[in-house]
Amino acid sequence: LIRAGIAGVGCYLPDRVLTNAHLEEMVETSDEWIITRSGIRERRIASPDQATSDLAVIAAGRALAAAGIGPEEVDMVIVATNTPDMFFPATACLVQDRIGAKRAGAFDLAAGCTGFIYAMAVGSQFISTGASRTVLVIGAETLSRVTNWEDRNTCVLFGDGAGAVVLRPSADESGILAFKLYSDGSKGPLLMMPAGGSRRPATRETVEEKLHYIHMNGREVFKFAVRIMEDAVAEVLDATGLKESEVDFFIPHQANIRIIDSAAKRLGLPMDKVLVNVDRYGNTSTASIPLALEEAWRGGRIKKGDNIVMVGFGAGLTWGAMVIRW
Ligand code: ACO
Repeated sequence: LIRAGIAGVGCYLPDRVLTNAHLEEMVETSDEWIITRSGIRERRIASPDQATSDLAVIAAGRALAAAGIGPEEVDMVIVATNTPDMFFPATACLVQDRIGAKRAGAFDLAAGCTGFIYAMAVGSQFISTGASRTVLVIGAETLSRVTNWEDRNTCVLFGDGAGAVVLRPSADESGILAFKLYSDGSKGPLLMMPAGGSRRPATRETVEEKLHYIHMNGREVFKFAVRIMEDAVAEVLDATGLKESEVDFFIPHQANIRIIDSAAKRLGLPMDKVLVNVDRYGNTSTASIPLALEEAWRGGRIKKGDNIVMVGFGAGLTWGAMVIRW
C-alpha cells in the first residue's frame, strides 16, 4: 500500500474577535468562569457574508500554495464539517468549484468534531489504493451560525475557522502511519442539533423552540472525552509500535483546556509537546486540529521526522486518533 503524506497545510480564521468581555455583555457569565472552566479567552466569528465554504476556500488555497500544487492537480476534495453552507449541494462541491479543482471528485463528511481525523483517514485510503494522487482534506466550520447566543452553557465555547491539508503519496518514511476510528451512536443525544433534518424539518415551531442550535450535555461530553482520549492514543500508538516517549507533538481536539490537560497528564506527555489553540479560537470543531497543526508548522516547531499524534472526539458520538510522521 502507498503511504499518504502531508504535502501542505493552510488555514483561515475570520478577523472578528469575540472576547469573554463581549460575552459578559450578552449572557450572565464572567471572563473568570469561562477561563477557569474552559481555558477559552476569545474566539473568531465569521462575518455575516461568510459561510463555511468561504472559510474553506481560503484555507484550501493556502494549503495548495504551501504544497506548490495547482488546483487542477487535485483528485478529491473532502470537507469535514458540522455546519455546511446548506444540506445540498455538498460544501466540498462549492469549494471544488471556487478553487478551480476541475478534475476533482468532492464530498462532505459528517463525524462531529472528529470529522478531520475521519476525513484524513478516508483521504489517505484514496492515496493508499492508488485511486487518487492528490487529496485535499478540509475541516471548516461556522459554528457561530448554530450557536444559541442566549444560552450561556454553549455560547461561550465555540468559534469559527478552517484548516486544510494536501495529501500526496509519501516519498520517504513520513506520512500517516496509523489511525483508529470509533463511534457510539447510543450517546448521540448528548450533543446534537435536533431540528432542520428529516426527523424534525424546519418549521416555525422548531425555530421558536430553538432546535436549530447546538444542544449539549457538557458535563457528560466532558467525562466521555477524558475517558476515551487515553485509550484511543494507546491503541493507535500500539498499531505503529511507537512508545509514548517517542511522541514529539500531541494535537488533541480543542474543546476545553481541562480535557487537554487531563489527557496529557494521563499519557505522561509534558505540555510543551501539546499544541493548544483553544484559548484563542475556542472550539472550532473539525478545524481545531488542522489549525493547531498549521500554526506549529508555520512557526517552525515541527521538524522532519517528528511523530505527531492527533486525537479527536465529538458529536455522534465519535472519536478517533491518528499518528503522522512529518
Ligand atoms: N457562565 C457562568 N456559569 C455557567 C456558564 C457560563 N458561561 N455555563 C454554565 N454555567 C453554570 C451552569 O449553569 C452550572 O450551574 P448550576 O450548577 O447552578 O446548574 C455551573 O456553571 C456548572 O456547570 P457544569 O456543567 O458543572 O460546568 P463544567 O465544569 O462541566 O463546565 C463545560 C462546563 C465548560 C461546558 C464543560 O462541561 C465542557 O467543556 N464540556 C465538554 C464540552 C465539549 O467538549 N463539547 C464539545 C465536544 S464535540 C464538539 O466540539 C461539538
